Amino acid sequence: MTDVAEDQVKAPQPGTDEGEYPIVVKGLRNTFGDHVIHEALELKVRKGEILGVVGGSGTGKSVLMRSIIGLQQPESGEITVLGHKMGDSTEEDSIDLRSRWGVLFQGGALFSTLTVGENVEVPLKQFFPEISDHLRGDIARFKVRLSGLAEESAFKYPNELSGGMRKRAGLARALALDPELLFLDEPTAGLDPIGAAAFDTLTRELKETLGLTVFLITHDLDTLYAICDRVAVLADKQVIAVGTIPELLALDHPWIQEYFNGPRGRAALAAKDDPAVTSEQETAQAVDTASASTDAPTGAGEGASKIDMRKSGA
Ligand SMILES: Nc1ncnc2c1ncn2[C@@H]1O[C@H](COP(=O)(O)OP(=O)(O)OP(=O)(O)O)[C@@H](O)[C@H]1O
Ligand SMILES: [Mg+2]
Repeated sequence: MTDVAEDQVKAPQPGTDEGEYPIVVKGLRNTFGDHVIHEALELKVRKGEILGVVGGSGTGKSVLMRSIIGLQQPESGEITVLGHKMGDSTEEDSIDLRSRWGVLFQGGALFSTLTVGENVEVPLKQFFPEISDHLRGDIARFKVRLSGLAEESAFKYPNELSGGMRKRAGLARALALDPELLFLDEPTAGLDPIGAAAFDTLTRELKETLGLTVFLITHDLDTLYAICDRVAVLADKQVIAVGTIPELLALDHPWIQEYFNGPRGRAALAAKDDPAVTSEQETAQAVDTASASTDAPTGAGEGASKIDMRKSGA
């Protein structure tokens, strides 16, 4: 096969899943011993969207993300990322693929013995060892600034940063390789409301300017209303529905109704429609994030009954 023909085969074709849906999950089953986490789970993520992923604590949001990026070997099912079937790529393909996404893990996962800049350099060294030390340092500092941190933060260690700054440092590392896909697991958990709103604004701006597709796990209703194009709801081992928030609100499902129409959901909707709050969020962009208290709210309870409203994907 010639180079051109090979390129044509590799290039995303309009109308195919690869072009429209950089992430496609079919029939996913994950278990830990007897504990079934996912069963026949289906999901399609559209190119260029921010897809919010919600569900009660322990419903398998992080495990789903880990399955998509190949850190969790599913028991069965098929996951296609950027046109590549996970699990049957050659080593070279899988290295290429891993360089096309960035991940901010739920716990941050920064190396505590490395400075922020050195943390950002880790993937650069791993995937582009030929880059000179000098250039690598420049790229890392650029990513640190892109994530809304002062350049000096690149020389600090994670434990010298506030919680919000550490999230941004994790984001800088996730952006190190100019990814097409960005995975964020609870990026605003533990941030104060202003810091969380600033992080949301940053995520939206980065998505728009860098053309990212974002898989965003969150319990934060404000985040869902503020920046997500669609929301996928995990319950009862499956993605039970995917849609805009108004579309989800139209569904008669107890967990969805309790989550979006409960007191927190209504407050988030009111905040979204309140011009004072909106301008506060815009102002917050200029405010550096501060560390904050405890875990994010977990929304409503788990264990929604099984209903047939799956329409994952389009
Ligand atoms: N490595 C593992 N070994 C055994 N069980 C695991 C492992 N990882 C996750 N689990 C279990 O899988 C289930 C789903 O975990 P997961 O971390 O995906 O939940 P989650 O939806 O992300 O929850 P949270 O909102 O609290 O972050 C939980 O019951 C968890 O205990
Ligand atoms: Mg999780």
